[in-house]
Amino acid sequence: MEIIKVENINKFIANEHILKNINLSVKQGEFVSIIGPSGSGKSTLLYILGLLDQPTDGKVFVENQEINFKDKKRISEIRNKKFGFVFQFHYLINELTALENVMVPMLKSGVEKSVAADIAIKNLEKLGLEKKQDRRPYELSGGEQQRVSIARALSNNPLVIIADEPTGNLDSKNTEIVMEIFENLNKEGKTIIMVTHEIDLAERTQRIIKLKDGEIIEDLKKI
Ligand SMILES: Nc1ncnc2c1ncn2[C@@H]1O[C@H](COP(=O)(O)OP(=O)(O)O)[C@@H](O)[C@H]1O
Ligand SMILES: [Mg+2]
Repeated sequence: MEIIKVENINKFIANEHILKNINLSVKQGEFVSIIGPSGSGKSTLLYILGLLDQPTDGKVFVENQEINFKDKKRISEIRNKKFGFVFQFHYLINELTALENVMVPMLKSGVEKSVAADIAIKNLEKLGLEKKQDRRPYELSGGEQQRVSIARALSNNPLVIIADEPTGNLDSKNTEIVMEIFENLNKEGKTIIMVTHEIDLAERTQRIIKLKDGEIIEDLKKI
């Protein structure tokens, strides 16, 4: 099944043509990387795929349903229920513990607190953070903070994980840890779309989409 599809997407920002006639669809279970030089439009494309931004023209489909960009309520519902986001900077809430941070998306979508806590603990265990659940972000290492943000991304059991340079701020050891987490999640069936500028990370995924100057210049599927 196609999870996300974009048709003839263009994006202009202040007269600059940032994305040029992009066509792309991602199927359930794929691990896709998007690579390209800085400024090539990777983040802009990823944000459109994640419904964090809208194209100037063109269509976006999630599970074969066309997105109506005027329906902000529906869009935030889809985002919260179906997408898990991981960014280069983790955007954890400093006042909350690791456990509470992971619970946030669930509480937002109306999951009961005790249920949310149980799921959050399981997700933190999955990422090897069971002993750190009561720490606040500043009491964790950079790698641990990013793992908490991955646990948070998993909290609503999303259809797809959308990650923008998730290892961009990590040393090589933690990059490897995060990459292995993504590989394991994908083996369990999770769809992942990851922007990276590290070609050796992209080469570990099943599909590499290359962007240059806002255009897809290559879409390489292994198998
Ligand atoms: N909010 C914005 N305002 C102005 N220009 C932007 C904005 N966001 C992105 N751009 C421009 O769009 C182009 C693509 O940016 P981006 O998608 O962030 O590239 P990448 O993630 O590949 O580095 C760049 O030229 C950037 O300057
Ligand atoms: Mg970027």
